[in-house]
This record gives sequence, C-alpha cells and structure tokens, in this order.
Amino acid sequence: MIKTTLGNHVATVEIDRPQKKNAITGEMYLALAQAVRDANADPAVRSVLITGQPGVFTAGNDLEDFMRNREGGELPSVAFMRSPAACDKPVIAAVTGLAVGIGTTMLLHCDFVVLAEDAQLSTPFVNLALVPEAASTLLMPLRIGYARAYEMFAFGETVDASTALRLGIANRVVPLDRLHAEAAAIAQRLAKLPAGSLAATKRLMRNPEVLTAQIAAESECFAERLTTAEAREAFTAFAERRPPDFAKLAG
Ligand code: COA
Repeated sequence: MIKTTLGNHVATVEIDRPQKKNAITGEMYLALAQAVRDANADPAVRSVLITGQPGVFTAGNDLEDFMRNREGGELPSVAFMRSPAACDKPVIAAVTGLAVGIGTTMLLHCDFVVLAEDAQLSTPFVNLALVPEAASTLLMPLRIGYARAYEMFAFGETVDASTALRLGIANRVVPLDRLHAEAAAIAQRLAKLPAGSLAATKRLMRNPEVLTAQIAAESECFAERLTTAEAREAFTAFAERRPPDFAKLAG
C-alpha cells in the first residue's frame, strides 16, 4: 500500500489504497515513515517525491484505525509526522484530488508542493471532535495567518487548488495531466543542486525541536480527544453515513 521507486536520484513514495480513498492505516504510517527514512539515508537519493492516486492524494487517517487506537499509546501517525520534518533532503508533494487531514497537514512539512487543478485540501479535525496534528497548529497559522488557519480547522471546509496557491500552501498548480511531469521536473531540478547547501538551508528554515515539541503537545491532546463521547459520535456517524449530532453532548 506504500510503494517506493527510485529513478534519476528521486525516490517516489506512492500512497496506494484507492479502494479506501488512500486512507492511511497505522501500518501504512509506519511504512511511510520508513520510506522517508530510507530515502534520507540512501546516498543515491537526492530528493523525495510523495504522491497518491489519481483523484485522491489521501482521505487522511483511517477512521476505523482511530476507533481501534482509542486505548492510548503512541499513535503510529506520530512516527510518520516526525519523518518528513527530520528529512534533510528536499521533499516534494504531488497532489491530485482529495487531501484530507494529514493529506493537507503533511504538505506543511514538504519543501515544494505541486497541486493538480482538481486538488481539494481540507483539515476536518474539529468535525471529528479531534485536534489538528503534525505541528499544523503551529505551521498553518504561520503559513496562512491565524484567521484563515482557524477557519480551516474549525469548519473543515475544502480549499481548492487556486486558493491554496494564493494562501501559500502550494508552489504550483498545474493541469492534472501535467502533475507528475511537473513534480518530477522539480524533484530532478532540486536533485541537481548542492545537497549539503540545501540540507543546511532547510535546517535553518525549520526548527526540529520546536516542531517535535508541538507534535508532542498535539499528540497528547489528540489521544485524549479520541476517548471522548464527541469523537465516538463523530466516528459512529461516519460509519453510519449520517451527520454527527454534537449538540446532544455536553462540551
Ligand atoms: N478512513 C477509513 N475509510 C475511509 C476513509 C477514511 N478516512 N475515507 C474513505 N474511506 C472509505 C469509505 O468508508 C468507503 O469504504 P467502503 O467502500 O468499504 O464503504 C471508501 O473509502 C470510499 O469512500 P466513500 O465515502 O464512499 O467515497 P466518497 O467519494 O463518497 O467520499 C470522502 C470521499 C473522502 C469525502 C469521504 O470518504 C470522507 O469524508 N472520508 C473521511 C475523511 C476524514 O474525515 N478523514 C480523517 C481526517 S483527520
């Protein structure tokens, strides 16, 4: 379900579970984290390209896994969240279709984001009675401003590709049929640059200690939220294909 291929010094990591809209299970998070770590350690790799399937980058965390993982312990998603932040090499995302939850928040850890015109970004954590993750509570307001970040988190509404470009979440928007060629060209262009200089630039631009601390704070809160009646209602509603009714629950 996570496939890695190597060509022209670019490691392409593909999320491949189209029958479930590329929803990411615990096992897939661990495989993604390993793929990024392996690419970072492989001297033949000079840039990393993350992509999904036509029409769906990912529908986010597997919701059934969320229900199973409510008993506590570190969430497997945390291992993955640390990995792009810890990757010295340029990480490029090529996104078509839905990018829900971690599908959007992981873009904040990528160094270059190429969207197809059909890309739809959303962060419906509050809709699921959870909290945003992957240090996005820090990175999203920094990137697009508090007002817009709060609105994205609170309402969980979809942001289309041109809006994402305007807000600064993405570098390029291209027609769907040019997505992979464009992303591959960017990955190869980055692969030709001095790797040491790029890595040092990235380290100066991103503060891993701050990101790790934010992820830890979010994870604690997230794990707590998973045990709430609000979250139970949200997941049950998804499984029963009905809108959740939070008004019947105390705050
Ligand atoms: N976790 C687990 N399964 C998921 C999933 C997720 N996050 N997203 C989609 N699926 C599954 C559906 O349950 C369905 O499975 P089934 O065919 O066995 O019933 C299959 O993928 C197709 O999804 P479906 O809802 O029928 O497709 P759609 O095109 O009507 O809607 C979405 C697509 C992504 C809008 C919708 O599935 C959705 O809202 N998913 C949840 C997104 C989410 O909240 N993610 C977590 C963010 S933190």
